[in-house]
Amino acid sequence: MKILNIVGARPNFMKIAPIIEAMHRHRDRIDQMLVHTGQHYDQKMSKAFFEDLGMPRPDVDLGVGSGSHAEQTARIMVEFEKVCIREKPDLIIVVGDVNSTMACTITAKKLGIKVAHVEAGLRSGDMSMPEEINRLCTDVLCDYLFTTDHFANDNLKREGIHREKIFFVGNVMIDTLMKHKKAAAKLDLADKFGLEPGKYATLTLHRPSNVDDKNTLQEILEALTQIARELPIVFPIHPRTRKMADLFGLAHYFSSGNRAKGIWTVEPLGYLDFLHLNMHAKMVLTDSGGLQEETTVLGIPCITMRENTERPVTCEIGTNIIVGNKPDNILAAAEKILNGEGIKGITPEKWDGKAAERIVRVILNF
Ligand code: UD1
Repeated sequence: MKILNIVGARPNFMKIAPIIEAMHRHRDRIDQMLVHTGQHYDQKMSKAFFEDLGMPRPDVDLGVGSGSHAEQTARIMVEFEKVCIREKPDLIIVVGDVNSTMACTITAKKLGIKVAHVEAGLRSGDMSMPEEINRLCTDVLCDYLFTTDHFANDNLKREGIHREKIFFVGNVMIDTLMKHKKAAAKLDLADKFGLEPGKYATLTLHRPSNVDDKNTLQEILEALTQIARELPIVFPIHPRTRKMADLFGLAHYFSSGNRAKGIWTVEPLGYLDFLHLNMHAKMVLTDSGGLQEETTVLGIPCITMRENTERPVTCEIGTNIIVGNKPDNILAAAEKILNGEGIKGITPEKWDGKAAERIVRVILNF
Protein backbone atom coordinates (compact mmCIF):
# COMPACT_ATOMS: atom_id res chain seq x y z
CA MET A 1 0.00 0.00 0.00
CA LYS A 2 1.48 3.34 -1.00
CA ILE A 3 0.69 6.13 1.46
CA LEU A 4 1.55 9.84 1.38
CA ASN A 5 1.76 11.44 4.84
CA ILE A 6 1.16 15.19 4.68
CA VAL A 7 2.56 17.93 6.93
CA GLY A 8 2.51 21.69 6.48
CA ALA A 9 2.54 23.74 9.65
CA ARG A 10 4.09 23.44 13.09
CA PRO A 11 1.27 21.59 14.89
CA ASN A 12 1.30 18.89 12.20
CA PHE A 13 4.80 17.61 12.91
CA MET A 14 4.16 16.13 16.36
CA LYS A 15 1.00 14.46 15.00
CA ILE A 16 2.58 12.77 11.99
CA ALA A 17 5.80 11.65 13.77
CA PRO A 18 4.27 8.66 15.63
CA ILE A 19 2.32 7.65 12.50
CA ILE A 20 5.53 7.50 10.48
CA GLU A 21 7.08 5.38 13.20
CA ALA A 22 4.12 3.02 13.38
CA MET A 23 4.09 2.65 9.58
CA HIS A 24 7.80 1.90 9.66
CA ARG A 25 7.09 -1.03 11.99
CA HIS A 26 4.79 -2.37 9.23
CA ARG A 27 7.12 -1.51 6.31
CA ASP A 28 6.63 -4.93 4.73
CA ARG A 29 3.08 -3.80 3.89
CA ILE A 30 3.28 -0.01 3.77
CA ASP A 31 5.37 2.10 1.41
CA GLN A 32 5.24 5.60 2.91
CA MET A 33 6.38 9.01 1.70
CA LEU A 34 6.42 12.27 3.63
CA VAL A 35 5.20 15.40 1.84
CA HIS A 36 5.83 18.84 3.41
CA THR A 37 3.76 21.61 1.82
CA GLY A 38 6.11 24.32 3.15
CA GLN A 39 3.27 26.30 4.78
CA HIS A 40 5.71 26.82 7.67
CA TYR A 41 9.32 27.15 6.54
CA ASP A 42 11.42 28.98 9.18
CA GLN A 43 14.05 26.84 10.91
CA LYS A 44 12.30 27.40 14.26
CA MET A 45 8.78 26.73 12.92
CA SER A 46 9.65 23.64 10.91
CA LYS A 47 13.12 22.06 10.68
CA ALA A 48 13.78 22.23 14.45
CA PHE A 49 10.83 19.87 14.97
CA PHE A 50 12.15 17.30 12.53
CA GLU A 51 15.37 17.26 14.54
CA ASP A 52 13.72 17.16 17.98
CA LEU A 53 11.24 14.46 17.00
CA GLY A 54 13.74 12.34 15.08
CA MET A 55 11.62 12.53 11.93
CA PRO A 56 12.96 11.65 8.48
CA ARG A 57 13.46 14.58 6.10
CA PRO A 58 10.46 15.10 3.82
CA ASP A 59 10.65 13.14 0.55
CA VAL A 60 8.93 16.04 -1.18
CA ASP A 61 8.84 19.74 -0.18
CA LEU A 62 6.25 21.80 -2.06
CA GLY A 63 7.79 25.04 -0.74
CA VAL A 64 4.57 27.05 -0.94
CA GLY A 65 5.37 29.52 1.88
CA SER A 66 3.07 32.24 3.26
CA GLY A 67 0.24 34.13 1.56
CA SER A 68 -3.43 34.94 1.90
CA HIS A 69 -5.67 31.94 2.57
CA ALA A 70 -6.66 31.66 -1.08
CA GLU A 71 -3.09 32.06 -2.33
CA GLN A 72 -1.64 29.54 0.09
CA THR A 73 -4.43 26.98 -0.39
CA ALA A 74 -4.31 27.32 -4.17
CA ARG A 75 -0.52 26.96 -4.33
CA ILE A 76 -0.63 23.83 -2.20
CA MET A 77 -3.32 22.33 -4.46
CA VAL A 78 -1.43 23.06 -7.68
CA GLU A 79 1.82 21.60 -6.37
CA PHE A 80 0.28 18.64 -4.55
CA GLU A 81 -1.73 17.61 -7.61
CA LYS A 82 1.54 17.03 -9.49
CA VAL A 83 2.83 14.82 -6.66
CA CYS A 84 -0.38 12.76 -6.61
CA ILE A 85 -0.27 12.25 -10.39
CA ARG A 86 3.38 11.23 -10.26
CA GLU A 87 3.25 8.99 -7.16
CA LYS A 88 -0.24 7.46 -7.58
CA PRO A 89 -0.77 6.79 -3.84
CA ASP A 90 -3.48 4.45 -2.56
CA LEU A 91 -4.13 6.71 0.42
CA ILE A 92 -3.12 10.08 1.79
CA ILE A 93 -3.06 10.89 5.51
CA VAL A 94 -3.80 14.44 6.66
CA VAL A 95 -3.65 15.64 10.26
CA GLY A 96 -5.10 18.58 12.18
CA ASP A 97 -6.86 21.59 10.70
CA VAL A 98 -4.40 23.87 8.91
CA ASN A 99 -4.69 25.08 5.32
CA SER A 100 -2.43 22.23 4.14
CA THR A 101 -4.86 19.69 5.64
CA MET A 102 -7.81 20.97 3.64
CA ALA A 103 -5.90 21.76 0.42
CA CYS A 104 -4.39 18.28 0.13
CA THR A 105 -7.71 16.60 0.96
CA ILE A 106 -9.57 18.41 -1.83
CA THR A 107 -6.78 17.76 -4.33
CA ALA A 108 -6.53 14.04 -3.61
CA LYS A 109 -10.29 13.44 -3.57
CA LYS A 110 -10.72 15.07 -6.98
CA LEU A 111 -8.14 12.62 -8.32
CA GLY A 112 -10.08 9.70 -6.82
CA ILE A 113 -7.50 9.03 -4.11
CA LYS A 114 -8.71 7.95 -0.68
CA VAL A 115 -8.03 10.27 2.26
CA ALA A 116 -7.78 9.60 5.98
CA HIS A 117 -8.06 12.47 8.49
CA VAL A 118 -6.34 12.15 11.84
CA GLU A 119 -7.97 14.34 14.53
CA ALA A 120 -11.31 14.39 12.73
CA GLY A 121 -14.58 15.68 14.16
CA LEU A 122 -13.28 18.56 16.30
CA ARG A 123 -15.70 21.49 16.11
CA SER A 124 -15.61 24.91 17.73
CA GLY A 125 -18.84 25.98 16.02
CA ASP A 126 -17.05 29.23 15.23
CA MET A 127 -17.03 29.90 11.50
CA SER A 128 -14.81 32.95 11.93
CA MET A 129 -11.93 30.54 12.60
CA PRO A 130 -10.18 29.48 9.39
CA GLU A 131 -9.45 26.15 11.09
CA GLU A 132 -13.18 25.43 11.53
CA ILE A 133 -13.69 25.83 7.78
CA ASN A 134 -10.71 23.54 7.16
CA ARG A 135 -12.10 20.92 9.56
CA LEU A 136 -15.57 20.91 8.00
CA CYS A 137 -14.32 20.71 4.41
CA THR A 138 -11.83 17.98 5.27
CA ASP A 139 -14.19 15.75 7.22
CA VAL A 140 -17.04 15.86 4.73
CA LEU A 141 -14.68 14.60 2.01
CA CYS A 142 -12.63 12.03 3.91
CA ASP A 143 -13.00 8.28 3.59
CA TYR A 144 -11.64 7.43 7.03
CA LEU A 145 -12.00 9.62 10.09
CA PHE A 146 -9.76 8.98 13.11
CA THR A 147 -11.04 10.67 16.26
CA THR A 148 -9.61 11.65 19.64
CA ASP A 149 -12.68 11.75 21.89
CA HIS A 150 -16.41 11.15 22.26
CA PHE A 151 -17.33 14.74 21.35
CA ALA A 152 -15.68 14.27 17.95
CA ASN A 153 -17.51 10.98 17.37
CA ASP A 154 -20.84 12.65 18.18
CA ASN A 155 -20.13 15.69 15.97
CA LEU A 156 -19.42 13.49 12.96
CA LYS A 157 -22.49 11.33 13.47
CA ARG A 158 -24.64 14.45 13.85
CA GLU A 159 -23.29 15.71 10.53
CA GLY A 160 -24.43 12.51 8.86
CA ILE A 161 -21.06 10.78 8.46
CA HIS A 162 -21.49 6.99 8.26
CA ARG A 163 -20.44 5.20 11.43
CA GLU A 164 -18.24 2.74 9.49
CA LYS A 165 -15.96 5.61 8.49
CA ILE A 166 -15.32 6.76 12.08
CA PHE A 167 -12.56 5.18 14.16
CA PHE A 168 -12.03 6.29 17.75
CA VAL A 169 -8.29 5.73 18.14
CA GLY A 170 -7.07 8.31 20.68
CA ASN A 171 -4.64 11.18 20.35
CA VAL A 172 -1.45 10.93 18.29
CA MET A 173 -0.10 14.19 19.73
CA ILE A 174 -0.13 12.52 23.13
CA ASP A 175 1.81 9.57 21.66
CA THR A 176 4.56 12.08 20.90
CA LEU A 177 4.32 13.73 24.30
CA MET A 178 4.63 10.39 26.09
CA LYS A 179 7.56 9.32 23.98
CA HIS A 180 9.54 12.51 24.65
CA LYS A 181 8.46 13.35 28.19
CA LYS A 182 11.46 11.69 29.82
CA ALA A 183 13.99 13.40 27.56
CA ALA A 184 12.28 16.77 28.04
CA ALA A 185 12.22 16.33 31.82
CA LYS A 186 15.99 15.84 31.84
CA LEU A 187 16.72 19.28 30.33
CA ASP A 188 17.98 21.80 32.83
CA LEU A 189 15.42 24.53 33.24
CA ALA A 190 17.36 26.60 35.75
CA ASP A 191 20.49 26.57 33.64
CA LYS A 192 18.88 27.15 30.30
CA PHE A 193 16.25 29.76 31.16
CA GLY A 194 17.13 30.94 34.66
CA LEU A 195 13.70 29.88 35.98
CA GLU A 196 12.51 27.96 39.02
CA PRO A 197 9.96 25.14 38.59
CA GLY A 198 6.43 26.23 39.45
CA LYS A 199 7.41 29.90 39.56
CA TYR A 200 6.55 31.07 36.06
CA ALA A 201 3.83 30.77 33.41
CA THR A 202 4.21 29.98 29.72
CA LEU A 203 2.26 31.80 27.04
CA THR A 204 1.32 31.19 23.42
CA LEU A 205 -0.74 33.72 21.49
CA HIS A 206 -1.16 33.73 17.74
CA ARG A 207 -4.84 33.39 16.73
CA PRO A 208 -5.89 36.05 14.23
CA SER A 209 -8.92 36.80 16.49
CA ASN A 210 -6.52 37.76 19.30
CA VAL A 211 -3.56 39.32 17.53
CA ASP A 212 -4.82 40.85 14.27
CA ASP A 213 -6.87 43.60 15.98
CA LYS A 214 -4.98 46.31 17.85
CA ASN A 215 -7.44 46.89 20.71
CA THR A 216 -7.91 43.20 21.39
CA LEU A 217 -4.18 42.53 21.41
CA GLN A 218 -3.51 45.53 23.64
CA GLU A 219 -6.18 44.48 26.15
CA ILE A 220 -4.75 40.98 26.35
CA LEU A 221 -1.22 42.30 26.80
CA GLU A 222 -2.41 44.65 29.56
CA ALA A 223 -3.96 41.73 31.45
CA LEU A 224 -0.86 39.59 30.95
CA THR A 225 1.36 42.42 32.19
CA GLN A 226 -0.64 42.50 35.42
CA ILE A 227 -0.25 38.73 35.87
CA ALA A 228 3.46 39.04 35.14
CA ARG A 229 3.87 41.32 38.18
CA GLU A 230 3.23 38.24 40.32
CA LEU A 231 4.47 35.50 38.02
CA PRO A 232 6.98 35.89 35.19
CA ILE A 233 5.57 34.86 31.81
CA VAL A 234 7.75 33.17 29.20
CA PHE A 235 6.45 33.82 25.69
CA PRO A 236 7.96 31.97 22.71
CA ILE A 237 6.52 34.45 20.28
CA HIS A 238 4.91 33.33 17.02
CA PRO A 239 6.03 35.21 13.87
CA ARG A 240 2.45 36.42 13.24
CA THR A 241 2.24 37.96 16.73
CA ARG A 242 5.68 39.55 16.46
CA LYS A 243 4.66 41.07 13.12
CA MET A 244 1.34 42.44 14.44
CA ALA A 245 2.80 43.79 17.71
CA ASP A 246 5.45 45.68 15.72
CA LEU A 247 2.82 46.99 13.30
CA PHE A 248 0.54 48.23 16.13
CA GLY A 249 3.42 49.71 18.15
CA LEU A 250 2.79 47.30 21.04
CA ALA A 251 6.24 45.71 21.26
CA HIS A 252 7.01 47.72 24.42
CA TYR A 253 4.86 45.22 26.36
CA PHE A 254 7.58 42.62 25.83
CA SER A 255 10.91 42.25 27.52
CA SER A 256 13.76 40.23 26.09
CA GLY A 257 17.12 39.22 27.50
CA ASN A 258 18.22 36.22 29.53
CA ARG A 259 16.05 36.67 32.61
CA ALA A 260 12.29 36.32 32.96
CA LYS A 261 10.73 39.66 33.72
CA GLY A 262 7.28 40.83 32.65
CA ILE A 263 6.17 39.19 29.40
CA TRP A 264 9.51 37.72 28.44
CA THR A 265 9.64 36.96 24.71
CA VAL A 266 11.95 34.30 23.34
CA GLU A 267 12.19 32.90 19.80
CA PRO A 268 9.79 30.01 18.97
CA LEU A 269 11.09 26.99 20.88
CA GLY A 270 11.77 23.45 19.77
CA TYR A 271 9.50 20.62 20.90
CA LEU A 272 11.61 19.39 23.83
CA ASP A 273 12.40 22.82 25.27
CA PHE A 274 8.77 23.88 25.17
CA LEU A 275 7.54 20.60 26.66
CA HIS A 276 10.11 21.02 29.42
CA LEU A 277 8.90 24.55 30.15
CA ASN A 278 5.25 23.54 30.17
CA MET A 279 5.67 20.52 32.41
CA HIS A 280 7.21 22.72 35.15
CA ALA A 281 4.99 25.80 34.70
CA LYS A 282 2.59 27.07 37.35
CA MET A 283 0.07 27.65 34.58
CA VAL A 284 -0.15 27.90 30.81
CA LEU A 285 -1.91 30.81 29.08
CA THR A 286 -2.77 30.08 25.48
CA ASP A 287 -4.99 30.39 22.44
CA SER A 288 -3.52 27.30 20.79
CA GLY A 289 -5.45 24.09 20.19
CA GLY A 290 -2.91 21.39 20.94
CA LEU A 291 -1.64 22.96 24.13
CA GLN A 292 -5.08 22.56 25.71
CA GLU A 293 -4.62 18.81 25.27
CA GLU A 294 -0.98 18.64 26.31
CA THR A 295 -1.60 20.54 29.57
CA THR A 296 -4.49 18.21 30.39
CA VAL A 297 -2.17 15.21 30.12
CA LEU A 298 0.63 16.99 32.03
CA GLY A 299 -1.84 18.03 34.77
CA ILE A 300 -0.92 21.72 34.41
CA PRO A 301 -3.71 24.34 34.67
CA CYS A 302 -4.45 25.91 31.29
CA ILE A 303 -6.19 29.25 30.68
CA THR A 304 -7.48 29.40 27.12
CA MET A 305 -7.97 32.94 25.85
CA ARG A 306 -10.69 32.13 23.33
CA GLU A 307 -14.48 32.27 23.28
CA ASN A 308 -14.81 28.58 22.46
CA THR A 309 -12.86 25.38 22.02
CA GLU A 310 -12.99 22.51 19.54
CA ARG A 311 -11.50 20.37 22.34
CA PRO A 312 -14.24 20.43 25.04
CA VAL A 313 -13.02 17.19 26.59
CA THR A 314 -10.09 19.19 28.05
CA CYS A 315 -12.63 21.30 29.98
CA GLU A 316 -14.98 18.41 30.77
CA ILE A 317 -12.35 16.27 32.53
CA GLY A 318 -9.01 18.02 31.96
CA THR A 319 -7.26 21.09 33.37
CA ASN A 320 -8.50 23.60 30.79
CA ILE A 321 -10.69 26.65 31.32
CA ILE A 322 -12.06 28.87 28.55
CA VAL A 323 -12.01 32.56 29.49
CA GLY A 324 -12.30 34.54 26.24
CA ASN A 325 -10.09 37.55 25.65
CA LYS A 326 -11.47 40.12 28.10
CA PRO A 327 -8.91 41.24 30.71
CA ASP A 328 -11.13 40.75 33.79
CA ASN A 329 -11.80 37.14 32.94
CA ILE A 330 -8.16 36.36 32.17
CA LEU A 331 -7.09 37.97 35.45
CA ALA A 332 -9.75 36.21 37.53
CA ALA A 333 -8.73 32.81 36.16
CA ALA A 334 -5.03 33.46 36.78
CA GLU A 335 -5.73 34.70 40.31
CA LYS A 336 -7.55 31.46 41.15
CA ILE A 337 -4.60 29.37 40.03
CA LEU A 338 -2.17 31.60 41.93
CA ASN A 339 -4.34 30.99 45.02
CA GLY A 340 -3.96 27.26 44.55
CA GLU A 341 -7.43 26.71 43.11
CA GLY A 342 -6.34 25.24 39.74
CA ILE A 343 -8.41 22.38 38.34
CA LYS A 344 -6.96 18.90 38.67
CA GLY A 345 -7.97 16.89 35.64
CA ILE A 346 -7.83 13.34 34.43
CA THR A 347 -6.53 12.01 31.11
CA PRO A 348 -9.17 11.27 28.45
CA GLU A 349 -9.80 7.75 27.23
CA LYS A 350 -7.22 6.31 24.80
CA TRP A 351 -4.78 9.20 25.24
CA ASP A 352 -2.29 6.53 26.16
CA GLY A 353 0.57 6.70 23.64
CA LYS A 354 -0.87 4.01 21.36
CA ALA A 355 -3.06 5.99 18.96
CA ALA A 356 -0.72 5.78 15.95
CA GLU A 357 -0.44 2.00 16.24
CA ARG A 358 -4.25 1.78 16.32
CA ILE A 359 -4.45 3.94 13.19
CA VAL A 360 -2.00 1.81 11.27
CA ARG A 361 -3.80 -1.39 12.26
CA VAL A 362 -7.07 0.06 10.98
CA ILE A 363 -5.38 1.09 7.72
CA LEU A 364 -3.94 -2.38 7.24
CA ASN A 365 -7.44 -3.81 7.51
CA PHE A 366 -8.93 -1.51 4.84
C1 UD1 B 1 -1.16 28.35 11.10
C2 UD1 B 1 -2.50 27.62 11.14
C3 UD1 B 1 -3.02 27.57 12.56
C4 UD1 B 1 -1.98 26.99 13.52
C5 UD1 B 1 -0.69 27.76 13.37
C6 UD1 B 1 0.40 27.19 14.23
C7 UD1 B 1 -3.94 27.86 9.14
C8 UD1 B 1 -5.13 28.56 8.62
N1 UD1 B 1 -3.50 28.30 10.33
O1 UD1 B 1 -1.39 29.68 11.51
O2 UD1 B 1 -4.16 26.75 12.61
O3 UD1 B 1 -2.46 27.09 14.83
O4 UD1 B 1 -0.27 27.70 12.00
O5 UD1 B 1 1.57 27.94 14.16
O6 UD1 B 1 -3.44 26.96 8.53
N2 UD1 B 1 5.42 32.98 9.20
C9 UD1 B 1 6.78 33.04 9.30
N3 UD1 B 1 7.49 31.87 9.23
C10 UD1 B 1 6.91 30.68 9.06
C11 UD1 B 1 5.50 30.63 8.93
C12 UD1 B 1 4.77 31.78 9.02
O7 UD1 B 1 7.36 34.10 9.46
O8 UD1 B 1 7.62 29.65 8.99
C13 UD1 B 1 4.63 34.24 9.31
C14 UD1 B 1 4.29 34.85 7.96
O9 UD1 B 1 4.34 36.22 8.08
C15 UD1 B 1 2.85 34.41 7.76
C16 UD1 B 1 2.32 34.40 9.19
O10 UD1 B 1 3.42 33.97 9.99
O11 UD1 B 1 2.15 35.24 6.93
C17 UD1 B 1 1.16 33.45 9.39
O12 UD1 B 1 1.48 32.14 8.93
P1 UD1 B 1 0.31 31.13 8.41
O13 UD1 B 1 0.86 29.80 8.10
O14 UD1 B 1 -0.48 31.84 7.35
O15 UD1 B 1 -0.66 31.04 9.64
P2 UD1 B 1 -0.35 30.83 11.18
O16 UD1 B 1 -0.81 32.03 11.92
O17 UD1 B 1 1.04 30.35 11.41
